[in-house]
Amino acid sequence: MKKDTYILGIESSCDETSMSIVKNGRDVISLVISSQIDIHKLYGGVVPEIASRNHVLALNSVFEETLAKAKMTMDDIDAIAVTYGAGLLGALIVGVNFAKGLAFAFGKPLVKVNHIEGHIAANYISHKSLEPPFACLIVSGGHTALVKMEDYTTRRLYGSTTDDAVGEAFDKVARELGLEYPGGPNIQREAEKGRANKRFVVKPHEKFKDFNFSYSGLKTAVINYLHNAKQRGEQICVPDICASFQAEAVEQLVQKSMHLLETEELNQIVISGGVSANKFLRTEMDKAALKIGARVYYPDLILCTDNAAMIASAGYFNFKAQKGIVDPTELKAEAQVAL
Ligand code: KG4
Ligand code: ZN
Repeated sequence: MKKDTYILGIESSCDETSMSIVKNGRDVISLVISSQIDIHKLYGGVVPEIASRNHVLALNSVFEETLAKAKMTMDDIDAIAVTYGAGLLGALIVGVNFAKGLAFAFGKPLVKVNHIEGHIAANYISHKSLEPPFACLIVSGGHTALVKMEDYTTRRLYGSTTDDAVGEAFDKVARELGLEYPGGPNIQREAEKGRANKRFVVKPHEKFKDFNFSYSGLKTAVINYLHNAKQRGEQICVPDICASFQAEAVEQLVQKSMHLLETEELNQIVISGGVSANKFLRTEMDKAALKIGARVYYPDLILCTDNAAMIASAGYFNFKAQKGIVDPTELKAEAQVAL
């Protein structure tokens, strides 16, 4: 009988300290997420130094809880997978050093995982029969990109943002509107009460030219609109602004995704990263995909934002392919990693 493989995943690239044990890349045995959102809310965004310190404080208890919830010890673990980049360098170093220590102390193989690879792999957990090849739209606080997964460990990049990431635009617009960090869920909530009755980027994004995205123009246009309205003493309707911004932000994502499916003759697309939790994005993407006979996959909501189960899953597929296995004494955290 084939032996099951258990991977311990570790994630600390931003403001979530998380560990998880995942069986065969698909089944979550335990998942613990210690979020620092309430701390960073006070500052309107993630403060890197505070994030690193809180990862240090949380790691030991998150580790113990992850093993306890799974009723396992390190003897049951086949390999350790850790996010080594991209992310906040100080925050990454905390998780990477913890993983190196564990790998060394318990004599376990160490697998390095690209955070984005993790976001994509979240879908293998949520959809047990999902297999490459598929198109993938990555939409997070740090990335906006379209890739094709050729197989479990080979990606081909088609396009990415030329400036801001879509999640970053949600967060900045939210901050300008006085909505709490993280802005995405709050914009979504306000937008549900409003109407998309404005266009902020006068010339709509040129359709189908390439697969790259741009969000700085839209973000700046909203911020300028708000400043001008304030100077003129005009009342603004927050729900309408949120609905208009959200509609314009999502339009690019849907158009370019459908364009990739059609040009590459793919019939499935996976949406990954924090913004994949957005309900309006899901509705619009489903409508567009239906028209061309494609299927869209989203992670379960808990797996959309940062978590270690997705890191363990990506680690499993790399481990099986003998990729990304590193010497614990040599692994370094990296703030920037190529997609
Ligand atoms: O993937 P993630 O947890 O962290 C990064 O790797 O960046 O993504 C966080 C981003 C934030 O910008 C947050 O505002 C956005 O995901 N987000 C959303 C929603 N939930 C989270 N954006 C729009 N709608 C949502 N419901
Ligand atoms: Zn992320």
